[in-house]
Amino acid sequence: MKILTSPKEAIEFRKTLKGSVGFVPTMGALHEGHLSLIKKAREENDFVIVSIFVNPTQFLPGEDFEKYPRKLEADFEICKRAGVDAVFTPTAKNMYSEDEILIKAPKVKGYILEGFFRPGHFDGVLQVVNKLFNIIRPTRAYFGKKDAQQLYLIKQMTKNFFFDIKIIEGETIREKDGLALSSRNIYLSKDERKRALSISKALKLAAKLSTKIKDTKKLKEEMEKILDVDKLDYIAFVDRDFNYIDKVIPNNTIILIAGYVGNTRLIDNIWI
Ligand code: PAF
Repeated sequence: MKILTSPKEAIEFRKTLKGSVGFVPTMGALHEGHLSLIKKAREENDFVIVSIFVNPTQFLPGEDFEKYPRKLEADFEICKRAGVDAVFTPTAKNMYSEDEILIKAPKVKGYILEGFFRPGHFDGVLQVVNKLFNIIRPTRAYFGKKDAQQLYLIKQMTKNFFFDIKIIEGETIREKDGLALSSRNIYLSKDERKRALSISKALKLAAKLSTKIKDTKKLKEEMEKILDVDKLDYIAFVDRDFNYIDKVIPNNTIILIAGYVGNTRLIDNIWI
């Protein structure tokens, strides 16, 4: 497995590949969620490239950029075992220059929900994904449904910028008890982890009730009864294009939750 540390090296390596390329962009601290995307990419492409880059521009001041888990050696091992052809691990210095051209997330859908509570976050995500797409020029790129709004915006950027890349979505991978896998789960204490479970339970409850109750306000009330978070940022009902809805639309609804358990901010969602 090749380790590519600069964009130049990655661009040169990419030129040598004849066949389809599956790309899994990550910030490392790989878990089963990432692995399921890598496996999918492995099945569907001749070559697989994973990027590991804790992208500074998508963290807001005061967020967890410094303490975000970094486990490069363990990540390399996971990639090697999964049959990855190359891992791209650039530095901020060789990815960014001063006073560079910036990408802006769309005014509405880039600034609601996650974009409202983390203003500018999606500008940073789209900036780096744009660079990664240009460097790797994948045939297919893989993103998890857990970051539903990110997935939606990346699909939109791919369309708006005419990238010839197929965006493939991966299901959210959960622990046996329902907790959605996240690199941030390691921040949770035992008690917090227990309370964090109320997030997936509330989503599951809403999905179950939604077969009878379509009114999203009523569903939200039921979810709030069982949610045990310290600060709720939002419970939201949107369609697959991230338009708010007040009635559940079967097969075209995403229910999203974001909130803090202790100091850890968690997000989760369910597609119904
Ligand atoms: O989802 C992530 O891990 C990141 O937002 C991504 C897409 C790798 C961009 O830094």
